[in-house]
Amino acid sequence: QEPAAPGAGSVKQQISNLVALSLRATVPEVDVEPIVEVCTGKFGDYQCNNAMGLWSKVKGSGTSFKNPNAIGQAIAKNLPACDVIESASVAGPGFVNIVLSKSWVAKRIQDMLVNGITTWAPILPVKRVVLDFSSPNIAKEMHVGHLRSTIIGDTLARMFEFSNVEVLRRNHVGDWGTQFGMLIEFLFEKFPNWEELGSQAIGDLQVFYKASKQRFDEDAEFKDRAQQAVVRLQGGEEKYRAAWKKICEISRNEFDQVYKLLDVQLEEKGESFYNPYIPQVLEKLSSQGLIEESEGARVIFIQGHQIPLIVVKRDGGFNYASTDLAALWYRLNVEKAEWIIYVTDVGQQQHFDMFFKAARMAGWLPDPKEKKFPKTSHVGFGLVLGADGKRFRTRSTEVVRLGDLLDEAKSRSKSELLQRLTENGKIVDWTDEELEQTSKAVGYGAVKYADLKNNRLTNYTFSFDQMLSDKGNTAVYLQYAHARICSIIRKSNMDVEELKVSGNISLAHPDERVLGLYLIRYAEIVEEACTNLLPSVLCEYLYNLSEMFTRFYTNCQVVGSPEEPSRLLLCEATAVVMRQCFQLLGITPVYKL
Ligand code: ARG
Repeated sequence: QEPAAPGAGSVKQQISNLVALSLRATVPEVDVEPIVEVCTGKFGDYQCNNAMGLWSKVKGSGTSFKNPNAIGQAIAKNLPACDVIESASVAGPGFVNIVLSKSWVAKRIQDMLVNGITTWAPILPVKRVVLDFSSPNIAKEMHVGHLRSTIIGDTLARMFEFSNVEVLRRNHVGDWGTQFGMLIEFLFEKFPNWEELGSQAIGDLQVFYKASKQRFDEDAEFKDRAQQAVVRLQGGEEKYRAAWKKICEISRNEFDQVYKLLDVQLEEKGESFYNPYIPQVLEKLSSQGLIEESEGARVIFIQGHQIPLIVVKRDGGFNYASTDLAALWYRLNVEKAEWIIYVTDVGQQQHFDMFFKAARMAGWLPDPKEKKFPKTSHVGFGLVLGADGKRFRTRSTEVVRLGDLLDEAKSRSKSELLQRLTENGKIVDWTDEELEQTSKAVGYGAVKYADLKNNRLTNYTFSFDQMLSDKGNTAVYLQYAHARICSIIRKSNMDVEELKVSGNISLAHPDERVLGLYLIRYAEIVEEACTNLLPSVLCEYLYNLSEMFTRFYTNCQVVGSPEEPSRLLLCEATAVVMRQCFQLLGITPVYKL
């Protein structure tokens, strides 16, 4: 990797670089990675926690250090002179508390205002990621689980992209498999003119799926035809391929509507895409002696698992696992991805665990302990629950239509907005277009944020009332917070654009300093969210930031104060960072509310 430009990367990264230099000077005989964390106490902003570990390495080796504290003292003393660090002190067994220079913090914020938030992108060790997300199944329901996968996956993609990582956004749709036999036969039966049908003509695909399933279960003769249809489809027979394509196309149109509403970009490479690669991939694994015969199926036995991974079914057909092996092979060897990330419900954890292990056995992936690329990760998430604590469903229908759900969020946020604006007499200031756009941004944003803010592994309860509340940790609250900052800036007579270049940020008041420090942590937050694949980290940051801004705004007068120019810049910087958070969460920020 090329050396980073000075000032590039997160603040934590920059402090780590300085600490690394100090460590080299302090204990040249040992090679250690700097351990730098945000300070929890009040004696510093960041802290270096290397001393104790170093002590256990050097004691008894004739070192001149008497204890960990002495090592800490030396680390503090050997920090290179620079404009980043104001002072460093040592506490207890060698914790080095580092205080950042106020003027450096201010300058970093000002640089960002002038050169753009992209200059605050973290530097990640990975260059190309395959992100496998959303991935619904054709003609089956696209359920709230797929909504979660879509929202979480899109945010991860956005965070990596912001960090200058190339992301291959992959929709691994379930477009292959035995269900197609029945769907195709049912299509022939119900719609003899199927070739001329437009994509809307057969109506609801889920209803179609259910009806064909019923037909399949009830009529042995139909079942027989359906099973033959699978064989003819897989044998490449023209008519069957065409029918398959038609069904996929109809499904795709439905999915695309949801993606459009959510503003999510995805490239479809469904299961069928990898099908031709399966035989050769299994051949390779076989020649390595990994595949065995078991009860008529071909399987891979994996240490620590009771049941083996089936890769060829008893009827000779391929399955989910064989497809995933072929897809992984493709992603590693053709797409040359370094990190392959799969976003599905936690229920599939065992599948991923097993097939990742199989790939390791085949030597495709290094041992995770080596912390090397390429690597694979399963991003699991919990269930969406209804108010009754059971799996989320809407009203009478069994499944939740994602489009309907988003519509409802929008119309609810619109009626609340209308009511409030009418009460304030502000409705006259709004055009219909603005009302529409704002309710969309607020409503859709609320759905996304409610999904993203919790640790993804926990189940969450879907509640319009909760997510659309303007109090607490909700997107609506955050949208208000952002809009309020924008209105402060509008209220001032000063020109922020001009101030960015000519003005100066001073962080004299303690609440200004706290806010400033939190702002510059932005890059390391994105870094952490990417590294641990946790969008909730970014949500938490956004919420805390708005709280810190409130404290600052409560205690520091902006408009009309002597500090107005500097404080206005802090307002602007907060708004910029908040907007960038929204952006990464896939939420459209609003400027007035
Ligand atoms: N289609 C699957 C489902 O709906 C998800 C696919 C996830 N991706 C993968 N490569 N297995 O559960």
